[in-house]
Formats: sequence, C-alpha cells, structure tokens
Amino acid sequence: MARGAERALPRLPNRMSSLLAKSLARIKPSATIAVTDAARQLKADGHDVIGLGAGEPDFDTPDHIKAAAAEAMRAGKTKYTAVGGIAELKQAICDKLQRENGLAHAPDEVLVSPGGKAVVYNAMMASLNAGDEVVIPAPYWVSYPDIVRLAGGTPVLLEAGHEQGFKLGAAELAGALTARTKWVILNSPSNPTGAAYTHAELAALLAPLSDHPQVHVLSDEIYEHLVYGDFAFTSAARAAPDWRRARSPSMASPKPSP
Ligand SMILES: Cc1ncc(COP(=O)(O)O)c(C=O)c1O
Repeated sequence: MARGAERALPRLPNRMSSLLAKSLARIKPSATIAVTDAARQLKADGHDVIGLGAGEPDFDTPDHIKAAAAEAMRAGKTKYTAVGGIAELKQAICDKLQRENGLAHAPDEVLVSPGGKAVVYNAMMASLNAGDEVVIPAPYWVSYPDIVRLAGGTPVLLEAGHEQGFKLGAAELAGALTARTKWVILNSPSNPTGAAYTHAELAALLAPLSDHPQVHVLSDEIYEHLVYGDFAFTSAARAAPDWRRARSPSMASPKPSP
C-alpha cells in the first residue's frame, strides 16, 4: 500500500454499515450474552455473583463423555459426516425417544444439528416467508423472536404471566391464530420461567390446532430432564400424536440441489 494510502480508506464504521445485511437491523444483540458478560465483570471485580444468564451446567463434562470424544478422534472419526447425522447417532436418538418419551420414530425422521439454536434457526429460515406469523408464549427464550425476525417472519408474543403459572391456555392460543400463523413455538420446561406443561395441559393446548392445518409446532424440549419433585415430563409429540402424523406429510422435502 502506498504511503499515506490508509488515510484515504473509508473509516471502519462506514465500511461496516455497507457490509452488513439490512436484515441485521431487525434484531438486537443477545440479552443473554449481555447479562453473562455483566456477571463475569462483576465476578472479576471481586463481587460474589451467581450468573443466571447463559444456560450451562455448573459441573464439568463427565469424564466418560470426554473419553468417548477423545477415543472417537483417535479412531479417525474426524471427517465430514452424513449431513443429517451419522446412522448410529440417528438410531440412538430413535432409541432414546422410544425409551424416555414413548415415541416411535424411524431414523429418516431424525435430523441432527449442532445445537438447539441451530435447529430453531434452520427451521425458521427454511419455512418462513415474509409476513408469516410465529406465536411465541412470553416470557420466552430471547432468541426466538430475533430468529423469526431474521428469517423474515413476524413474532406474535402471547403473554402468559405468573398468575397463570407462566402457561398458555387453549383459548388464548386459539385466539392468537390467524391464516398467516405458520408456527407455534413451545418451550417446556421453559427458559426462563421453569414452567412445564403436564400431559393433560399439552393435549388441551394443542387440541385447537386441529382446525388450523397450516400451523406447525416447534416444541423445544431441551430442558426435559430439568424437572423436580414428581413432575412427569411429556413431549408435545406424545400429547398430540394424531395431530403430529396429520401434519408430517405437508412438510414436503425440497428437491436436492444439483
Ligand atoms: C430454550 C432454549 N433452547 C435452545 C437453546 C440453545 O441451545 P444450544 O446451546 O444447544 O444451541 C437454549 C440455550 O440457552 C435455550 O435456553
């Protein structure tokens, strides 16, 4: 670069604003990261703080899991896998769904993704068109509305306050559905409230969806094992099995790209 040429370059913020996609203006920086960073800073400043931001266990990854990962790498399992997940893992997921959730699925109904956020993101990007509505009960995991906005959809936030145990009733859900509703995102047990629907509550909640065949449910059950006392977790797919099968064929597989 010629001497002095750097002075002629546009300043970084201008370059950034021309670089970034307009769609990024629809979303906000992660509130989870902000609160986690604030807690980290307070700890670094010597304050006694318990961070309730990023959802991470307070224990280390168990040794047998670390050992299995190391062994797999030693055995040369370091290459690209099948895009939807390796066959043994898909079968193990089917076995888990049968054993723990009473759900019978075949491996070709299972898609492995690198984390829960990727599942939600990919599903919204692959399915939403401009103006499609996604019903999200509030309080919600902060990423849901932003992912919907980024994908061009419209989040419809449905307040479920503490007086109703942070859970939606069937009539409230039914009242929020329109011809544009494409998804309802459920999260039970919930981040951030911890509220969890019983089998009966889920069955009642999902019943009105029979009248709306264009509506799909994305049930984020990432915290299924974080339940307490004698509460029994139920998957949404278990609570409304007929409803699930009736919708499956409408998610037509796209043609493979050439
Ligand atoms: C409800 C919920 N779903 C999904 C995720 C993201 O999971 P992952 O870290 O596997 O992407 C989180 C993380 O906080 C979450 O709270």
